[in-house]
Parts: sequence; C-alpha cells; structure tokens
Amino acid sequence: MADNEVQPLLTPLAMGPFHLRNRIVMAPMTRNRAENKGNVPVEIMATYYSQRASAGLIISEGSQVSPQGVGYLNTPGIHSKDQVEGWKQVTKAVHDRGGTIFLQLWHVGRVSHPDFHEGNLPVAPSPINPETEAYTPLGLKKTVVPRELSTSEVRGVVQDFVRGAENAREAGFDGVEVHGANGYLIEQFLRDSANKRTDEYGGSIENRARFLMEVVDGIGRVIGKDRMGVRLSPANVWNIPPDSDTKGLYEYVIDRLSGTGLAYLHLREKASDLSGIPNMVTNVTEYFRPRFKGILMTNTGFDRESGNRVISSGLADLVAFGVPFIANPDLVERFSRKLPLNTPDQSTFYTGGIKGYIDYPTHV
Ligand SMILES: Cc1cc2nc3c(=O)[nH]c(=O)nc-3n(C[C@H](O)[C@H](O)[C@H](O)COP(=O)(O)O)c2cc1C
Repeated sequence: MADNEVQPLLTPLAMGPFHLRNRIVMAPMTRNRAENKGNVPVEIMATYYSQRASAGLIISEGSQVSPQGVGYLNTPGIHSKDQVEGWKQVTKAVHDRGGTIFLQLWHVGRVSHPDFHEGNLPVAPSPINPETEAYTPLGLKKTVVPRELSTSEVRGVVQDFVRGAENAREAGFDGVEVHGANGYLIEQFLRDSANKRTDEYGGSIENRARFLMEVVDGIGRVIGKDRMGVRLSPANVWNIPPDSDTKGLYEYVIDRLSGTGLAYLHLREKASDLSGIPNMVTNVTEYFRPRFKGILMTNTGFDRESGNRVISSGLADLVAFGVPFIANPDLVERFSRKLPLNTPDQSTFYTGGIKGYIDYPTHV
C-alpha cells in the first residue's frame, strides 16, 4: 500500500442505522472492575471506555443476563436496576466523545461454581463437567457437574437474554452482541460434546441451534435485528471440546443467521493449535465469508497490517482488536499515524483498580 493511500481500517462503514467512523472495533473484554456488591458498573469503567471511544464500535465486556449467568468475580450484569443505572454513565461518556457502543450479553452456563450461587449448582444444557477452573470469591476452584436446565427453564433463560437487551437499550447502549462464543452457555447448547438433551433443544443440529435462534429472534423483536450482532467461535476448544461435526454445525448456524438483517456476525479465528481434531475449520473468516450475507467482523491475532489486508481482500468488513485496545486507548490514532504500540501488562488484565486499566499513556 502506498504511503499516501487511506488505510482500509480507517474507512467508514454504514451498518444499519449506524455510521461507523472506521472499521476498528474494540473487542469484548472482561476486566473485572465492576463493584463487588451487585456487579454494578463503576465510574472508572466510564473513563476506560470513553478513552477508547474513537473505535468505530466498542463492544462491552461480557455482562450477565441474570445472577445465574455469573462465573467470574466483579463482572458487570445487565439484569438489575442498579446495573442499568451504572451502565448509563458508561454509555453517556462514550457518546459524549462521539462513539458507538454495544453491550455483550453473557451467560457462562457451566463455566461457574457453586460459590457464586449460594451453594447451588451452576446450570447447563446437560450435566457434564467442563473440567476447567473457576475463579471464585474463595480462590481458584475446580468446576463441578452442573445441573441440567428443564425445558421450561431454557425458555426462561431465552427471556433473560431478551430482557438483557431491553435493559441495555434503557442503559443507553446502541445495540447488543449475543455472546455465542468461548465455551459459554450458547456454545454449550450448540455443541454435542456439552449438549445431550432429548427435548427440542438437543439432538439434531437444528435442535441444538434452537436456543441461539430463539435468543436472536426474541431480541430482534424488542430492539431490532439491526441493533444486534452475534459472536461465534467455530475454532474454539477452550472451556469446551469440539462438536463431533464442528464444521457442519457452524455451516448450519451461519446459514440460518445469513441474510436476517443482523448488524453483524462476529467470528473468532482459532486461538490454539487444532491439528489432529477432525471436522474443524481452521481458516474461519475465509471459509465462512461466502456463506454470510451481511457485515462480517473478524477477530483474534490481528495487527494493523493484517487488519488492513483482511479488509482490502474483502474477507471481512470490520476487525475487532482485543489486547491491543487494552494497552492503547488511542489505538485508532496510532494505527492512523503508524505509531508504535504500548506493551500490555497481562498481570493487570483481570485485577481490580486503575492500574493497567485507565493509566496506559496515549501518544503525545
Ligand atoms: C482480558 C480479556 C478478556 C476477554 N473477555 C472477553 C469477553 O468478555 N467476551 C468475549 O467474547 N471475549 C473475551 N475475550 C476475547 C477477546 O474478545 C478477543 O477475542 C481476544 O482477545 C483475541 O483478540 P486479540 O488477538 O485482538 O486480543 C477476552 C480477552 C481478553 C484478553
């Protein structure tokens, strides 16, 4: 690319009712800074997000749709009045700087621990231990066998997502992203490694996709599909084993979502070695791009150059950056002027307080 050419990442994009100033998206990132009591968003979160408001779009950290959806400490929710009030300071601060912000709707399902639920078991499509660890109020603990949701409870969780979207709208968010990635509840429903149900939410691919599709349709009815993105991670094996036919599963799901008027589909590329695992797609963006009619956002491991390349090749319309945004509140400005980036401090990713949160320097 010639030096005087506009970088593809810096070109605007019309996305439904939104005019995105550029194609650089801040990826959803849990930072564990919400108030311990009630998981309420606090003032430093407004500072943190507003520092990053020059992104074309900010996607908030995962936010629980119900107390049952919690699996980590100090993660914000979107189910209580106090949480809605707390989020208002965040959305106002971002809008004051001309930014656009979606809230990520989250339910961890089985990736939790009884310590978060007054001794009660976490819930999941089926009673299968994810065999991972949970960061509980009393330290790191092994996960347990979750309790299987009844059919009527599943319908209730769909409603929790829908209410979460309504609350997000009340809190001033421009839209929501449905968290269907990274081994959490929606991905647990999708994959036959975690879903052994015999009701209409289990069995065939169509049945396993029903939960996601009901969430999407329900939210579409209350806030409009053009204000909703969906995040999927077809190449993820974190928190959850692969499906017996991961490729076929995601082909089906993405075909169902294609052309439905979603704001965007957000796909994660692989984050670990998948060699030896059958039926996985290892080049996610390239493979699924032709199947999805609509705006495609890609993520995982991109930098300025590869981000520009993936846009100019037509494989994606938007690129979400995670870790680079943690360390560089002015990432857009740095990309635009091809400036060096700050180094992220991993030790403060998930700890409370302002260190490593709102104190990364901007370029002067
Ligand atoms: C600190 C941290 C927290 C994260 N929290 C979330 C989250 O709440 N929801 C989600 O979908 N992904 C989450 N992710 C994944 C990121 O959105 C992104 O997919 C990942 O960082 C890869 O993108 P990158 O290579 O640009 O960093 C998190 C990642 C990090 C580093």
